[in-house]
Amino acid sequence: GSPLLIDPFARHVSYVRISLTDRCDFRCVYCMSENMTFLPKAELLTLNEVDRLASAFVQLGVTKLRLTGGEPLVRRNIMWLVERLGRHLDQGLEELTITTNGSQLARFADGLKQAGVRRVNVSLDTLDSAKFTSITRWGRLDQVLNGIQAAKSAGLKIKINMVALKGVNEDEIDRMLAWCGAEGFDLVLIETMPLGEIEQDRTDQYLPLSVVRRRLARKWTISDIPLSTGGPARYVRVKETGGRLGFITPLTHNFCEACNRVRVTCTGIMYMCLGQEDQVDLRTPLRASTSDDMLIEAIRGGIDRKPKGHDFIINRPKAAPALARHMSMTGG
Ligand code: GTP
Ligand code: 5AD
Ligand code: SF4
Repeated sequence: GSPLLIDPFARHVSYVRISLTDRCDFRCVYCMSENMTFLPKAELLTLNEVDRLASAFVQLGVTKLRLTGGEPLVRRNIMWLVERLGRHLDQGLEELTITTNGSQLARFADGLKQAGVRRVNVSLDTLDSAKFTSITRWGRLDQVLNGIQAAKSAGLKIKINMVALKGVNEDEIDRMLAWCGAEGFDLVLIETMPLGEIEQDRTDQYLPLSVVRRRLARKWTISDIPLSTGGPARYVRVKETGGRLGFITPLTHNFCEACNRVRVTCTGIMYMCLGQEDQVDLRTPLRASTSDDMLIEAIRGGIDRKPKGHDFIINRPKAAPALARHMSMTGG
């Protein structure tokens, strides 16, 4: 067979998202419930194991690694891992990157850049500090803005992820777009996805991005950018800012046919789809032997049954989440 990871639908898996922790220093209301039970730290893969895992994926032709969480930058000794992973950058790995809430970026931006990270995705749902604190439950906006500026000064490219929430931040999308344009950041809008129990019913906050796009088109000149990556975002160019604007719309437009990714949780479970339960335990083969043969077998076994796509629906009133696990388990 092919040395690469090719799934039953002929999709090439070239991108792995690795969650380093289910913990986070914020508790965004659409992401987590206020009282989350986190995994005992003993359950986590060690950073050495994450390094072995990542090396196996690179050997299997993976060209992009993204570190996620929870909040990856709260994982102890994270920079040791980033530096280790950076050594693959000349050996098959094309991109090493991270998705972060930005709270620790002021500390880590320079180190990330030096280790070979070129761009970071930062989650930021509002530019209003009171609203920021209510969305994150106790986060401080100025800390995140300082982090973002540190990343910019370090020479990292920045993409802002904004979850669009009805009645919460929908009135801020224009402002966010203008700010990103002025700062030179890309902006990606995301539909809230039914992952894990939270206090609210997500149906109440759900804002279809098809509606947002129509609203934006009245004020901004936007034109489609042809599909470039196998990522979930569909991009437009905004003439007035010169920047890119993306839409991640799992609920209104399914992008699964071009899916190029799998994700591994901080305990070493591989999920072949963000929206399905099917999983493969990679921790057992990692720990069973110092050779990677069993690990590679297990990875290939998972890819052989990567599902065709998710089947999220949100329009059922008072619907239970489609999946019991929170986004912070799989890091998206
Ligand atoms: P780029 O590398 O910049 O293209 O980023 P990305 O979209 O791969 O990653 P990012 O971590 O910024 O994710 C943005 C949003 O996309 C998050 O809310 C993720 O949960 C969501 N997302 C990422 N992968 C998938 C996927 O396979 N399916 C769905 N439905 N959403 C995804
Ligand atoms: N639906 C959509 N996006 C979510 N995120 C966290 N939980 C959800 C959810 N239920 C977003 C964060 C971050 C990204 C990794 O996932 O805001 O931008
Ligand atoms: Fe933390 Fe990100 Fe979830 Fe917010 S969305 S609680 S920052 S993991």
